Amino acid sequence: MKLNTFLTLLIPTGILFLVACSNDTQMESDSLQEEQPANLQKYIEQGRSISRKMQGILLSNVSSAIQNGGPAHAIAFCNTRAIPLTDSLSELEGVKISRISDKNRNPNNVASSDELELINQFKTNNAKDTVLSWDNNENYVYYSTIKTGMPACMKCHGSVGSDIRPETLNALDSLYPEDKAKNHALGDFRGLWKIEFTQ
Ligand code: HEC
Repeated sequence: MKLNTFLTLLIPTGILFLVACSNDTQMESDSLQEEQPANLQKYIEQGRSISRKMQGILLSNVSSAIQNGGPAHAIAFCNTRAIPLTDSLSELEGVKISRISDKNRNPNNVASSDELELINQFKTNNAKDTVLSWDNNENYVYYSTIKTGMPACMKCHGSVGSDIRPETLNALDSLYPEDKAKNHALGDFRGLWKIEFTQ
């Protein structure tokens, strides 16, 4: 499907706030205004439910890592556990869950060039989520916005020099030399959940 055709599927609604090395949580009750084809509606609902579950898991894990050892310690946690945790839920749900960004921290989370265009559309429309097919309706992919919606995000994604402590910065610099995910303001666009449904 070409970008301009699937853009009609974008659903501009409220803001998705996020928590922890992922997002939280207060998805606004989203007026999925129009008539989505029934099959897309099904993927939208599943995508919402799975991304909510996933963000809850990441949030509780990161919160306890911060409590146990502060943000610098929690970075090591995110580095080793964020992707395995998403993989476990993927397996359980029979989908593939990931997070992608135009300003990614982990190089594995980089958006493809088509997805960069999609991200621009999300930003322009302040859209919440959408379902697309990249391959002639063989497989569907759910995407939803992740924002730095909580002050806690700033400890690791905020301004160097004020929000991010020196020891946190050291941990980030050594694990992510190509990090693009610093110097965000509260409420910035941070990336997208991506949930792939294969037939
Ligand atoms: C303790 C530090 C820490 C906090 C707090 C934190 N993050 Fe992260 N975040 C990370 C690290 C480290 C990664 C890279 C994880 C990996 O290697 O898979 C990351 C990755 C991400 C990613 C995946 C895309 C990418 O850039 O690799 C998103 C999206 C994200 N964070 C959003 C948030 C949001 C939203 C918040 C606040 C609700 C938040 N993070 C709070 C450390 C943190």
